[in-house]
Amino acid sequence: MEVVIVADARAGGELIAGAMAQLLARKPDAVLGVATGSTPLPVYEALAARVRAGAADTSRVRIAQLDEYVGLPAEHPESYRSVLRREVLEPLGVGLDAFLGPDGTAADVQAACEAYDRALAEAGGVDLQLLGIGTDGHIGFNEPCSSLASRTRIKTLTEQTRVDNARFFDGDIAQVPHHVITQGIGTILEARHLVLLATGAGKAEAVAATVEGPVAAVCPASALQLHPHATVVVDEAAASEL
Ligand code: GLP
Repeated sequence: MEVVIVADARAGGELIAGAMAQLLARKPDAVLGVATGSTPLPVYEALAARVRAGAADTSRVRIAQLDEYVGLPAEHPESYRSVLRREVLEPLGVGLDAFLGPDGTAADVQAACEAYDRALAEAGGVDLQLLGIGTDGHIGFNEPCSSLASRTRIKTLTEQTRVDNARFFDGDIAQVPHHVITQGIGTILEARHLVLLATGAGKAEAVAATVEGPVAAVCPASALQLHPHATVVVDEAAASEL
């Protein structure tokens, strides 16, 4: 695992957007796995700026979703499909036809999860998966004690994650769904390159457990230690417990 300490979130965004642009130059139809949350926004902004400047070509890229709320209609502004359309697809000029994601409204959620794992495999797998990290060390929505070999499946959110995400639902925890679909840790580990970005002091403890702790289900992100090509990009504050 490579750990890169950058000055701030903006520098982290530039660094990762640069890696994405290089990947697209080498493989224009790469599958880019994207995460939601506030942390990756500087990455998407920096990549969109490169696209506008003609320094990155997203005309053939495919974008793959990491996780989704169960039960929110796709057009709900906080469904991750909507969030990614707003924050990633539109700024990068990518159409929905190039988007891969699980169906959070499916009547048979388990079948939707399995269908998504199959769709990822049929697309040739994820080339670069961008990850954030929860304050409890979760990646995607794999909460602590998720199996390190897990596949895409339905999960129940912890109270902590619902509290953390209430800010996207007018601060009202009652509106935050209880259930989600997430790529499993085993699914995530199949991406060719994993890039985790963490910024701010609130993530320092989770980053220390990820990088210096044992590989353990209690800190799902520690599974990155098992991956042959994992890069952890942290700002000074998130690196403060290393
Ligand atoms: C949610 C997402 C994760 C994300 C996490 C942290 O739980 N499912 O993919 O990493 O939030 O979000 P933030 O970057 O806003 O702290």
